[in-house]
Amino acid sequence: METLVKFVCLIAFVVLVSVASVESAGECGKSTTPDNEAFKLAPCASAAQDENASVSQSCCAQVKKLGQNPSCLCAVMLSNTAKMSGADPQIAVTIPKRCNIATRPVGYKCGPYTLP
Ligand SMILES: *[C@@H]1O[C@H](CO)[C@@H](O)[C@H](O)[C@H]1NC(C)=O
Repeated sequence: METLVKFVCLIAFVVLVSVASVESAGECGKSTTPDNEAFKLAPCASAAQDENASVSQSCCAQVKKLGQNPSCLCAVMLSNTAKMSGADPQIAVTIPKRCNIATRPVGYKCGPYTLP
């Protein structure tokens, strides 16, 4: 009996910890992840690899949307999905500026990078 109680407590603890870690990792909210959101920036692929590439309208529209939540935007730009698609985070953080998004969070720290 006592073993069962311990087991139930252990399960409850594990569930609590995993729920807590999912919430704290939710830069983009509870229902999505930065890696998921990174797929929305597919139109930004070339602009995130070449600082001189022109940034497409659809890319800017997505960046503007994500930029309403700067910590999410940063998490997306630094995500493994973005890196695996060839994005250079240092170049990616310049996209909001290249889109001339007036409401972009200038000076926001994206990991080791600062939004221009
Ligand atoms: C972008 O343009 C600058 C200035 O013309 C040049 O120095 C730089 O090498 C170019 N970068 C790329 C990735 O083509």
